[in-house]
Amino acid sequence: MSKVTYLTEVAHTVIDIEPGTSLMAAAVANAIDGIFGECGGNAMCATCHVFVEEGPFTALPPISDAEEEMLDCTAAPRRPNSRLSCQIPATSELDGLVVRIAEEQL
Ligand code: FES
Repeated sequence: MSKVTYLTEVAHTVIDIEPGTSLMAAAVANAIDGIFGECGGNAMCATCHVFVEEGPFTALPPISDAEEEMLDCTAAPRRPNSRLSCQIPATSELDGLVVRIAEEQL
């Protein structure tokens, strides 16, 4: 399990995530506001946009070509720390990661 913190302007939620479950799927399963995951985690909708703020950055998986393309289509402007949360499967190395949910997804 890895503990991941999701931040918004009004909430701070910590979820214990099973290895292999994406940060998007965990957020949706836990009814976290602001992450929609409309394409089911296929890097085709950009409604799971987050900003990685703290934690083990070096343990993050690299950005694939598909993620790279979708990050240019996000509703909230892309930042250097932008990621699609569906493309980040939880691993024990990611314990302590903190992500901020993009203020706009659609
Ligand atoms: Fe669609 Fe992440 S859920 S891009």
